[in-house]
Amino acid sequence: MNILAIVGSLRQDSYNRAVLRAVEELAPDGVKISEHPLGDIPLYNFDVEQQGFPEPVAAFKAAIADADALLIITPEYQHGIPGVLKNALDWAARPARESPLKGKPVAVMGASPGMTGTARAQSQLRQTLVYNGCPILPPPEVLVAGVHDKVEDGVVTDEPTREFIGGALERLATWLDGDPSRPA
Ligand SMILES: Cc1cc2nc3c(=O)[nH]c(=O)nc-3n(C[C@H](O)[C@H](O)[C@H](O)COP(=O)(O)O)c2cc1C
Repeated sequence: MNILAIVGSLRQDSYNRAVLRAVEELAPDGVKISEHPLGDIPLYNFDVEQQGFPEPVAAFKAAIADADALLIITPEYQHGIPGVLKNALDWAARPARESPLKGKPVAVMGASPGMTGTARAQSQLRQTLVYNGCPILPPPEVLVAGVHDKVEDGVVTDEPTREFIGGALERLATWLDGDPSRPA
């Protein structure tokens, strides 16, 4: 099972990338996680799209098409998803009739130092995914609140958080083994 991971933060010491590292460590046998970095993806512009997808966009779309599922791990910015992530999804969804997002199963996670652990960003992200016809791993949601107390030197050290992430990955694998287009 090939899962394409997307982290909505470009920050070097990103807590959300620390969550990705925990995911890589805790993934069940047979689940391969590969990150696709978003840093080279230019700002969306329809004029540019009409001249052809820039190479980083074409590579991103191809990686989505090749993956069995996506795992999006995102911070919350201003109660929504970071522009970097929304921009990447806007490119991925174009043109609508050829979008590799269509029907692609997606799992969502997020970490924030705040109390709500990206709940509002995840809600907003789910709207975009629903619009794109993506089946979404059903709850419980993976909301890592107070993440600054759960990560040390880029490693998720909080044991309950690690167990919760590991459990979500087991649920993801079981969900993908069945028919993700049906509610769990
Ligand atoms: C522009 C900006 C907006 C933010 N807005 C929120 C927010 O609405 N809710 C929240 O919980 N944290 C917010 N934060 C704090 C982020 O959760 C925090 O910076 C987090 O570490 C970012 O994720 P990262 O460590 O993966 O880069 C914001 C941070 C920035 C830079």
